[in-house]
Amino acid sequence: MNQQTRPNPIAFIDVAAQRKRLGGAVDAAVTRVLGHCQFINGPEVGALEAKLAAFSGAKHVIACASGTDAMLMVLMARGVGPGDAVLCPSFTFCATAEVVALAGATPVFVDIDEATFNIDIASLRRGVATAKRLGLKLKAIIPVDLFGQPADHDAVAEVAKAEGLFVLDDACQSFGATYKGRRLGTFGLATATSFFPAKPLGCYGDGGAIFTDDDAFADILRSVRVHGQGADKYDNIRLGLTARLDTIQAAILIEKLGIFPEEIAARDAVARSYADGLGDAVIVPRVAEGNTSVWAQYTIRVAAGAREAFVEALRAQGVPTAIYYPKPLHRQTAYRHYPVADGGLPISDRLAGEVVSLPMHAYLDEPTRARIVGVVRGAVGK
Ligand SMILES: Cc1ncc(COP(=O)(O)O)c(C=O)c1O
Repeated sequence: MNQQTRPNPIAFIDVAAQRKRLGGAVDAAVTRVLGHCQFINGPEVGALEAKLAAFSGAKHVIACASGTDAMLMVLMARGVGPGDAVLCPSFTFCATAEVVALAGATPVFVDIDEATFNIDIASLRRGVATAKRLGLKLKAIIPVDLFGQPADHDAVAEVAKAEGLFVLDDACQSFGATYKGRRLGTFGLATATSFFPAKPLGCYGDGGAIFTDDDAFADILRSVRVHGQGADKYDNIRLGLTARLDTIQAAILIEKLGIFPEEIAARDAVARSYADGLGDAVIVPRVAEGNTSVWAQYTIRVAAGAREAFVEALRAQGVPTAIYYPKPLHRQTAYRHYPVADGGLPISDRLAGEVVSLPMHAYLDEPTRARIVGVVRGAVGK
């Protein structure tokens, strides 16, 4: 038999390792829900919301069915619709702009900062001018805390204030990260996050949450979460969704939130190993002064044109990679007819050809990190 020795494959994200660490706790939590049978709005949902509020510092948390629903609910609750413009980056997951389009409004795409992958403030200002020139009514900014790192929230808030816009923070990749010592969840009118299993804090299916300090707005969001219901369950006072978080997912998240701070520290240690081992070989990500990242992705950059061979060299050595994102939204079929900020989006276009994400999770042990570092260095001839 002609067998080649293949190096052991490494997991890109190891959900099973975390499951093992949690042991019987998750099973017991799910069994409790199976026992009380309150699958919708069971006590675990309120308990999780209270824990997430305490963790983030936000006054209200509205758990919901996904990060996408979380963002759409905020736009619906603010009455964003046709003729309105919402500024957002193009270099992000599609849901950021999708919810704007679903609300009937126009996403206006803005460029990113090369060092942090987050919204570029000069381009944001140009986007404001673009929207005005097109006769759109400016409503909101959606900064994205990409790959786990907060955007420059003070600078975003300054533009929002000057233009009378509200801010919806897309923290779907970055719950747990801090900006100037404050956890995400308290910037802008509202913050949305996702509990998709691969996220730093993920459940075992789809899930999400909205964070806000605004009492009246929180009430509207709770109504939108259940078909826009009013004080009477069958008196619907606005349009809404079926966007509740399942009780079983809430029970799982309560257990996972308990170990989340330790997991954030472990992810940070992985990022440090990569930075130390690769800083002179490839362009490693930079966390801006005053920020911490939860490292949803560890995204390096290799020379344009060399990426395919690089990815293949890593794959051959059992090191998986992912490309976030190969095509910015303004180049995708569903979004290319929407406007981009004056001056275009050259950084988004360029970085889409250079980015590669390496394995990242809290259970990546030291020998495996060293192996990945060695393989990456070898692939770039260092
Ligand atoms: C930046 C960003 N926004 C929004 C979402 C949507 O979250 P969900 O998949 O929970 O709907 C995601 C999820 O991947 C995301 O990465």
